[in-house]
Amino acid sequence: MCGIVGFIGKNPEHVLLNGLKRLEYRGYDSAGIAVKSTDKIELFKAKGEIKNLEKVILPIANADIGIGHTRWATHGKPDEINAHPHVSGDKTWAVVHNGIIENYTELKTKLMGFGYGFYSETDTETVAKLLEYYFAKDGDEISAVSKTISAIKGSYALGILKKDKDGIFFAKNKSPLFIAKAGEEIMLASDIICFKGFAEEYYPLTDGIFGYASRGNIVFYDKLGETKIAPVALDLGEYDNLNTYKHFMIKEIFDTKTALKNIIEYYSEKTNYDKLKDFDFSGITRVKFVGCGTAYHACLLGADMFCEKTGIEATAYVASEFRYQKVKLGSDTMVVLVSQSGETADTLAAFELAKESGAYTIAIVNVEYSTLAKRADAYFPIKAGVEIAVASTKAFSAQLSVLNVFAGIFAKKIGSETDPLSDLIKLYETFDYGNLNDFKLLADVLRYNDNLFMIGRGNDYYVAQEASLKIKETSYINSNTYYAGELKHGFLALIDEQTYVITFATDKNVLSKTLCNAEEAKARGGKVILCTCFDLSPSDAENFYYVVRVKELGNSLQAVLNIVPWQIIAYYISINKGLNPDKPRNLAKSVTVE
Ligand code: G6P
Repeated sequence: MCGIVGFIGKNPEHVLLNGLKRLEYRGYDSAGIAVKSTDKIELFKAKGEIKNLEKVILPIANADIGIGHTRWATHGKPDEINAHPHVSGDKTWAVVHNGIIENYTELKTKLMGFGYGFYSETDTETVAKLLEYYFAKDGDEISAVSKTISAIKGSYALGILKKDKDGIFFAKNKSPLFIAKAGEEIMLASDIICFKGFAEEYYPLTDGIFGYASRGNIVFYDKLGETKIAPVALDLGEYDNLNTYKHFMIKEIFDTKTALKNIIEYYSEKTNYDKLKDFDFSGITRVKFVGCGTAYHACLLGADMFCEKTGIEATAYVASEFRYQKVKLGSDTMVVLVSQSGETADTLAAFELAKESGAYTIAIVNVEYSTLAKRADAYFPIKAGVEIAVASTKAFSAQLSVLNVFAGIFAKKIGSETDPLSDLIKLYETFDYGNLNDFKLLADVLRYNDNLFMIGRGNDYYVAQEASLKIKETSYINSNTYYAGELKHGFLALIDEQTYVITFATDKNVLSKTLCNAEEAKARGGKVILCTCFDLSPSDAENFYYVVRVKELGNSLQAVLNIVPWQIIAYYISINKGLNPDKPRNLAKSVTVE
């Protein structure tokens, strides 16, 4: 992962820091900038978040160019030495990098053989040394950049400074990179959110593009030589306004209802509704839903919804496993890639495999300018608005809603009479956030546990998985999920008087069976917290340690009503433990490495 930024113009340190703060969702293990003054490159680095870097930056006279980096560690521990930018042996070149150089060990050995020394454990340092090596051969910078990117294998978005050049070299392959111009000033970044307030349009770079930006001028190259890229309008909604909230996570949970409204409005438009109109469905016999983390949980529920509405068999896959399982793909297959960012490396790799096989690809993605959204055969935006907190909340609910609409549109194409938006409209009308005070109290009880258990059947099990993930991510409590029926096959051995067993029971068809499983846990001393949409008699309710009551919807979007309380509870557990729910340790929002 990691985020990179580059700037040509006045006060580069200031602009770089602001850019890095906007990119911090991509990693916050360490940060650094390199700024070029008259004839020198100054480096500043710090472990941890950008605020630590801010404290160590000294004023630099005549600075007008710089590059910056925020890191999610892959090669080498997250310390100052491994923090980017990395420099060549002669300190002429400085490099920031997002991605992974897969053949760096081989390149490093070769360069060491030529006498180059290495100071860090990173793969990126190899790039700085390669630039120095190739430049020494023919004295041409752009040729050194071109030869360097030909030598490296893997993914990269690169920003490169050279001590005696008044510009920034850049290159992209399989990691996002964008560049924008405002008069004489230039900015490059891993995400266009850095351009907000800077430019009205930007250049989206595709894989294989490299180039050089100097004051007011950008030159692009591909492997055939100089090339042109058309700018596109910068279209970002509101994205970093916390309003009255303390954290993005809770703000984003409370954006859910607006997201549902936006989805209904968007998919009510004829052209958006009928995105599949040119597609011939008759040959499709298999549908695969693919995603990671929260998006994978949306896939599990989405595959079920799809099967229920269309009668076509659908399966969900974890994207990182998709290429290694014996998945049958071909022109009779539709592969639905679900992702908030549209840049997750494992999901992109699954997409490439699907494309190669001739499968029809659908992206159900939040970020509209992302690789997946741009490259899939059809794109269904989830309209959640920008999500900043690492733990995904409103995007999950929006993914489920769009998966439901998508299945409905598909069903209609093959003969269903039902309005594809009907489930979602009902959800919107029924939706509420529940009783916050109750959730706060429950969070206070759960925070003292090292282990939680969650059980459910069918869709309730998938929601339990997502609730478990939220709690793990934001409060570092080990939360385990089991199919309720599996309780008796091992997991009961773990239950004693200290164990909380959170039981999801919102499916009428399996209600009595799930409640029996909850009883089994209770009989062993477990404290059962029931999450249900059904009325309980006072005596039944007394049976449980606590009841989280959600509204009953009567369709598969019940999952949205079921998850929201647990997103809120996870948030409050995190707060009660004094943690930062927006930036869980060791994690990042957009995982652009496999
Ligand atoms: C990371 C994030 C998760 C997210 C997953 C998939 O692990 O921390 O919140 O669910 O990536 O991301 P995507 O952008 O593909 O939905």
